[in-house]
Amino acid sequence: MRKIRIGASDMEVFPLGIGAMAWGESKVWGYGADLGYAEVRELFAASIAGGVNFFDTAEVYGNGRSEQNVGRLLAETAAPVYVATKYAPLPWRWTKGTVSTALDRSLKRLGQESVDLYQLHFPFPFVPLKAQWHALADQVARGKVRYVGVSNYNADQMRRAYEVLDKRGVKLVSNQVEYSLVHRSPEVDGVLEACRELNVTLIAYSPLGRGLLSGKYKPGQKPTDVFRANGPFKEAHLRKVQPLLETLEQVGKAYGGKTPAQVALNWLLRQPNVLAIPGAKNLRHIQTSLDAVSWEMTAEEAAQIEAASSGYRQVEFYRPLGS
Ligand SMILES: NC(=O)c1ccc[n+]([C@@H]2O[C@H](COP(=O)([O-])OP(=O)(O)OC[C@H]3O[C@@H](n4cnc5c(N)ncnc54)[C@H](OP(=O)(O)O)[C@@H]3O)[C@@H](O)[C@H]2O)c1
Repeated sequence: MRKIRIGASDMEVFPLGIGAMAWGESKVWGYGADLGYAEVRELFAASIAGGVNFFDTAEVYGNGRSEQNVGRLLAETAAPVYVATKYAPLPWRWTKGTVSTALDRSLKRLGQESVDLYQLHFPFPFVPLKAQWHALADQVARGKVRYVGVSNYNADQMRRAYEVLDKRGVKLVSNQVEYSLVHRSPEVDGVLEACRELNVTLIAYSPLGRGLLSGKYKPGQKPTDVFRANGPFKEAHLRKVQPLLETLEQVGKAYGGKTPAQVALNWLLRQPNVLAIPGAKNLRHIQTSLDAVSWEMTAEEAAQIEAASSGYRQVEFYRPLGS
């Protein structure tokens, strides 16, 4: 089985990680309604059984609840897994020491002495970036962080972070950005190129377009949560994506009926130095996502899919703060 090494770290991971945002977040993903800790425990066990060894969370997911749940899961397993979490540089968090305090709180929720990957969740314009990079390097020196990553950074911010950290003897190992067949911005905004040049792994979040690539939603059939219904699942978006979904379905047929979601993940798996972290709310999500790993589409099929998704190969400036 192919493994992915995250940047210049010693973390060798299964080609798919799992995003744990839904494992605590209630407003969009319904944690506490149709998903509780017992279900999350099953999803975690199924992920581990399938080979997954990388889980992504953040202090803001469910206001700490996702981290808390991941901490409980870690306490209950002997499986060797890597955990990534994120610090949110919110505008009122500008004083020296906020990173250290927030990290200590995350570690407490995770029940760990140190975290494998600590990421700056987004570049907030009012909080000086350089100070944040130094604050992360300080946490590595404290032994509380093994590796450092960023998220939602553009190519220029990434390069500057890389340089500052490098001078402190710390490697930037990842940039977590949105990347999927309905969001191909990293291919044209310089992020993918900078990642490859610097040996920084691109961690692809929302690799299923938040469910848009599942094929489950059609014009007139949106998800019920307000955030998705009024954002990525607007009628115009649902209409635009249908021809791409048809192509994914057609390619899936050649592999015994793989679903559009599986074909979409399989396409991402072809991209070098990219680690996709789909979210999962039920066992079917986990099992079908993992089944996207064991086969490989042809170059011709990939080209056909890329042509069908060419309308999404554009620079997008929208970055969801705090998500
Ligand atoms: N750094 C950031 O700013 C940022 C932002 C967003 C997300 N993230 C990370 O990325 C992770 C994943 O992102 P996400 O949950 O927004 O988007 P996603 O993985 O693109 O979409 C998840 C949704 O896709 C559907 N799905 C999942 N697996 C499926 C499968 N095998 N077959 C069919 N449908 C499937 C489900 O939708 P239904 O519920 O409709 O069935 C699921 O809720 C998060 O957990 C988080 O760790 C990071």
